[in-house]
Amino acid sequence: ADLPLVLGIETSCDETGIGLVRGHTLLADAVASSVEEHARFGGVVPEVASRAHLEAMVPTLERACETAGVRLADVDAVAVTAGPGLAGALLVGVAAAKALAIGLGRPLYGVNHLAAHVAVDTLEHGALPEPCLALLVSGGHSSLLRVDDVTAGVDPLGATIDDAAGEAFDKVARLLGLGFPGGPFVDRAAASGSSVAIQFPRGLSSRRDLERHRFDFSFSGLKTAVARWVEARERAGEPVPVADVAASFQEAVCDVLVRKSLDAATSQGIEDLLIGGGVAANSRLRAMAVERAEAAGVRVRVPRPGLCTDNGAMVAALGSEVVRRGRTPSDLDLPADSSLPV
Ligand code: KG4
Ligand code: ZN
Repeated sequence: ADLPLVLGIETSCDETGIGLVRGHTLLADAVASSVEEHARFGGVVPEVASRAHLEAMVPTLERACETAGVRLADVDAVAVTAGPGLAGALLVGVAAAKALAIGLGRPLYGVNHLAAHVAVDTLEHGALPEPCLALLVSGGHSSLLRVDDVTAGVDPLGATIDDAAGEAFDKVARLLGLGFPGGPFVDRAAASGSSVAIQFPRGLSSRRDLERHRFDFSFSGLKTAVARWVEARERAGEPVPVADVAASFQEAVCDVLVRKSLDAATSQGIEDLLIGGGVAANSRLRAMAVERAEAAGVRVRVPRPGLCTDNGAMVAALGSEVVRRGRTPSDLDLPADSSLPV
């Protein structure tokens, strides 16, 4: 018999994502993004995101079915991001998922957005190694998680105490006059710069900080250091070496992320590190993680960049795992929970 066809709906931030997955096979991943509507504000505006989800939901659903060559009636289970995320944005996805589950007479599964970022890797590399350690770095979160059973949630070991890693990329990009969202622009600019040109601070890495914040991150001090450095240059009437600043900043972020991830993996006796979230698309982070992990005896799995950013495929991938493991469906009064534990 065929494996169940699972539909996944993601609306926690600014991407309306619909994914269709069977087992570990991705059949469709349709994404509509409102990122351009937010660009002029330099960040995601919740009200704008909610409205965009509402407008994009049905066309994106149709596009996903068309790509997969299936009808909605073929769907066996509906999974949706229940949180964490923007409350109003989540609500649109959860309402749509309930409507589909009721209309199709299929079970509904509310899932955790962060666990979905982990589960998406199954679509590229097959069954998830469990336990594994997950570094999730995006515009909204930067966490180190222990994952024993991805369908049961995630266990946070550490998180950012201020800005998310992606947020730091976005702010530094803005400072350097690059586009939004800033990550890909910094990544590209850094390619022609020197990562050792400027020594930027590594947050929460001093011996004292490590005592209290061994697996936590802090990027706001780094962002301020970059701002001061750029300002000093401008004040002196000297040109800002954008590529060098980008490369040195990127190096500082990646250095801390990789070092703490490997420290966490080693101290937990975990041999598999999974990296996800939008920042996992960063070329330096991917290369550095692979390089240093090998030396530490840790295996690294990073899904291809297209799967790292928010999408419906990750929700469908987790839904597929939830169905396979026979988890109980959610009630039809499933709430959207913006503060779901990360
Ligand atoms: O996972 P995601 O799509 O949405 C959130 O849940 O936040 O992550 C978006 C974040 C943005 O901050 C963006 O600048 C960052 O991921 N990002 C990158 C790269 N591509 C996207 N950061 C660094 N390097 C990249 N190549
Ligand atoms: Zn995300």
